[in-house]
Parts: sequence; structure tokens; C-alpha cells
Amino acid sequence: MNLAVYPGSFDPITLGHLDVLERATGIFDRVIVAVLQNPGKSPLFSVEERMEMIRESVGDSDRVEVASFDGLTVDFAQKVGARSIVKGLRAVSDFESEFQQALFNRKLAPSVTTVFLMTSFANVFLSSSLVKEVARFGGDVSFAVSPSVARRMADLLAERS
Ligand code: PNS
Repeated sequence: MNLAVYPGSFDPITLGHLDVLERATGIFDRVIVAVLQNPGKSPLFSVEERMEMIRESVGDSDRVEVASFDGLTVDFAQKVGARSIVKGLRAVSDFESEFQQALFNRKLAPSVTTVFLMTSFANVFLSSSLVKEVARFGGDVSFAVSPSVARRMADLLAERS
């Protein structure tokens, strides 16, 4: 089985991430969306919430699994038996750090290959951090996230205000 890991913070998952995920499922038999447990980044949502939002946004699919990990992405990929890491590329600005990470990961685990997938033009400008900023100030983010994520963001921000 051709398995890939799609790692990220997904805080929260955006339509851009979902776009990349859909493209990945067109290439791989199965994709594990792997949520990084990254306390250093002080995420808005807990790992469990982020995983739930991914499940809700993806819906029923036997080709997509949602998991969490800490440590190195390549270690997680090897642990689950994936030979590919999927990363989304939005614009040139993503390229430098993605290129660096891919080469680093290749040094760490030569048998794991990073595959870059481009989002559609409509989603090229989306980012989780901008979504959070806009939502925090009451802006509408329904064009950027699934209805379930939009609802959870509104609930969380109302709770915290
Ligand atoms: O959604 P993000 O925050 O851009 O995702 C970044 C992520 C999780 C893919 C990256 O930070 C990562 O792989 N972190 C795990 C630690 C690791 O493997 N670091 C080495 C990368 S060279």
C-alpha cells in the first residue's frame, strides 16, 4: 500500500489544507494527517480539538486517517511505514523553508521522500494564522475553513471573550 503522511500544526485545518489532502488521496492509497503536538507554538486549539476538526472537515473516508505525533516527522513516517511526506506549497514565500525542511528530512531519512502539492489558485492565500487573526477580531472566515471549523472558532472565541 502506498501510504503518505501529511504533517502539520493544523491549528485549525483550512480549505487550503483540505485541497492538498484531496490531491494527496488522488495519488496515495492512504494518507495519515499527522497533527504535531507543538506546545512551543502555543496553539489556539488542543491536539484533540484539531484532530476532531480534521475528522469533521474530511467526513467519512477510509483513505484518510488522523493521528498526532511529537518528535521528528521522519520518525513518525518511518514508524507508520510511510515512504512519502506530503507538504502543501502556496507561494514562493513557502518555498525556502519547505526546501530546507525537505533536504533536512532527506538527510535524516533518505528513504522518505517529500512530495509537494500545490493548492488551487483560489486557496493560495489561506493560512491558519491569518484565519485565527481575522476570527479573533470578529471577521468572517467562512471562505477559508469548513463550516465545522468556523463554528468551533466562533464558539471558542466567544467563550474566551
Ligand atoms: O503546519 P506547520 O506548522 O507549517 O507544520 C510544520 C511541521 C509540523 C510539518 C514541521 O514543523 C515538522 O515537521 N515538525 C516536526 C519536527 C521535525 O521533524 N522537524 C524537522 C523538520 S526539518
